[in-house]
Amino acid sequence: MHMKIKKKIALWLLCCCAFGQAAAQDREDISLNDKQSFISHLLEQMTLDEKIGQLHQCSGRGNFTGPDTLHLPLEEYVRQGKVGTMLNIIGIKEIRKYQSLALQSRLHIPLIFGLDIIHGYRTGFPIPLAEAASFDLAMMEEAARCNALEGAADGQNWTFAPMVDISWDARWGRVMEGAGEDPYLGSKVAEARVKGLQGEQLGDTCSMMACVKHFAGYGAPMSGKDYNSVDMSMGQFANFYMPPYQAAVEAGAATVMSAFNDFQSIPCTSNRFLLTELLRERWGFKGIVVSDYSSVEELINHRVAENRKDAAAQAFQAGLDIEMVSQCYLRHLKELVQEGKVKEEVIDQAVGRILEKKYELGLFHDPYRFCNEARSNRIINSSRIRNSSLRMAERSVVLLKNERQTLPFSDMIRTVALIGSLGKSQFDMAGAWAGSVDRSKIVTLYDALIQRGIKVIYQEGYDIRSGKISSLNASLQAAQQADAVIVCLGERAEQSGESKSKANLNLPEGQQLLVEELAKTGKPIVSLLMCGRPLIFNEVRRHSPAILCTWWLGSEAGNAICNVLWGKYNPSGKLPMTFPANMGQVPIFYQYKSTGRPTRPHVHYCTSYIDSSTEPAYPFGFGLSFTSFRYGKPEIIPSDHPDHAHAFLRINISNTGSRDGEEVVQLYVQDKVARITRPVKELKGFQKVFLKAGESKTVTFPITDETLGYYDNDMHFTVEKGEFIFMTGGSSHDTQEVTYFHPFSKI
Ligand code: NOJ
Repeated sequence: MHMKIKKKIALWLLCCCAFGQAAAQDREDISLNDKQSFISHLLEQMTLDEKIGQLHQCSGRGNFTGPDTLHLPLEEYVRQGKVGTMLNIIGIKEIRKYQSLALQSRLHIPLIFGLDIIHGYRTGFPIPLAEAASFDLAMMEEAARCNALEGAADGQNWTFAPMVDISWDARWGRVMEGAGEDPYLGSKVAEARVKGLQGEQLGDTCSMMACVKHFAGYGAPMSGKDYNSVDMSMGQFANFYMPPYQAAVEAGAATVMSAFNDFQSIPCTSNRFLLTELLRERWGFKGIVVSDYSSVEELINHRVAENRKDAAAQAFQAGLDIEMVSQCYLRHLKELVQEGKVKEEVIDQAVGRILEKKYELGLFHDPYRFCNEARSNRIINSSRIRNSSLRMAERSVVLLKNERQTLPFSDMIRTVALIGSLGKSQFDMAGAWAGSVDRSKIVTLYDALIQRGIKVIYQEGYDIRSGKISSLNASLQAAQQADAVIVCLGERAEQSGESKSKANLNLPEGQQLLVEELAKTGKPIVSLLMCGRPLIFNEVRRHSPAILCTWWLGSEAGNAICNVLWGKYNPSGKLPMTFPANMGQVPIFYQYKSTGRPTRPHVHYCTSYIDSSTEPAYPFGFGLSFTSFRYGKPEIIPSDHPDHAHAFLRINISNTGSRDGEEVVQLYVQDKVARITRPVKELKGFQKVFLKAGESKTVTFPITDETLGYYDNDMHFTVEKGEFIFMTGGSSHDTQEVTYFHPFSKI
């Protein structure tokens, strides 16, 4: 036998024996050499109870991300082999503790440890929606890489990310976790994040398993209420919601999480169409499917299951491998096998998939390989990670308004009035899902200003809880004494995220009134919008000469914002979600379909409101720069290689301002006449280009089946022949057109 393999087996046996358990004789026969034979040998030795244990996931104590589980005899369960994976165990010490208990189980099968690393493990990164605003895929891949580096260095093997749910509804608090409203952008971001998290291969001690969630349609709950029912046609699903899940699976995501909601009247957790027919049979997914937190048991609340046993049967038969937390599998699967309702071979397949991931992660070779304190100390908060967090944060900022060249500040601005407690709050700058992030290392805007030697006159201005003005006179005085005023507006971190749906997206009146009053001082005012979702702030838009959407930017928030304010970084972000002008417009998105009575100004019988415009406050893809860009006329260029592309679209772009800058060149398409109703425009390409002041570049987009096609109501991908209108520009509302004629159909 090869020496290296011999060594590995010896190592495995050694660590099992180290816990006082003589490794079973049959275990000694198992060679670690070949994954498949290792797994089948191991499976042969497992009792049905042990197999069911692998399908059970438990949450650690004290870090709940759902209903608590304090009553469980966790340690005992793990020692008895009744747990296959765990979530919410944080820190090497705790992970070692549970891993050593798992190794005391009869077959010494190690645990996988999972955690929601949504925008940073110890070092905070911008919330995912903010990162998506960068349209910078390489940077998002690097951000995900950094999240995995830190998590894996501290013992984690699995993160429940990326969330790839498309949403048009900012009332839904979880829009902050995704990439916004657009399926094309969402797919590209999903792919980048999976690659970043998983790296070259699982088993590197710097990679983690990704988990695509929430499959499927979770971003479209009725009325924007979290966990609410979802009802959509198959065509709607396939064209608008499905693409990012598929892209993430095709990028190699190791795991998928089923969603809490129902899909076509069957809860996703027990939805065989989603979990088996689409995911496994159509897309060829080979990894693990995990439920969301207690969602198997929640089949009873959905009123599709009579009791826990029925819930276990339905979820398992649908194709769900791991049950997160609720224990219906643990308690009832055995009985279901005995009654012939669940086949043991199918259990073997599910367990096989879990063992396979444990094998690929290298946990059979060394169950503690992710638990290395020296590596953890070296990697966590290292300069690479801090730098990446800073670069990601700068790129996530969106400049929404900049009148009278308020920004960037000149070096003459040495004294600022900083108004609003969000600018001083480490907690809020970390963002909504930052449970493990080291908040004491968050650089707030206040800290960053001070570190740069700026004199800061701070005033709370308004009460963050009530939204009412709390110190008007003092704020006005601060403004009078300063060279410029920075007002930090928005939401607290705990106001977006899971179970944080809102019926009102308006910025509190007090915050808006304060800006109006401050504007009267005539000082240069910049309003910063710190938030996890699109908000409505019409008075601020009216009165503030400059507005930046800074979201929640993580550990380097303050430094990133200062770099933008003083022009060290020229903002390049574009909105990944439409910002509504009023609540009645929500849900709002740019990709609406043509109706029989399309929206037209001054026409009565058309798709519109009688009491509001249909125009958003800021459209998808919008974002300004400190420089200006001019787009040339787009042209269609024939292709010499029709296998690769049917044609190309070419456009010239020039930086006409006096500063270097980056522009996100966006490509939209409209299928002029189709067999089914199609959107007025759809994003089908983008490129982020850097242009020096005065520089011009040519950008080329290939026109392929993916650019032109759509899914029909039976989920067949179709490309129709005929005219397509291509639109290019720096936002979904500011484009130039060219027509392309596609000569043949493909069904
Ligand atoms: C519930 C959330 O919906 C999901 O996104 C998360 O991964 C799990 N809880 C585990 O924390």
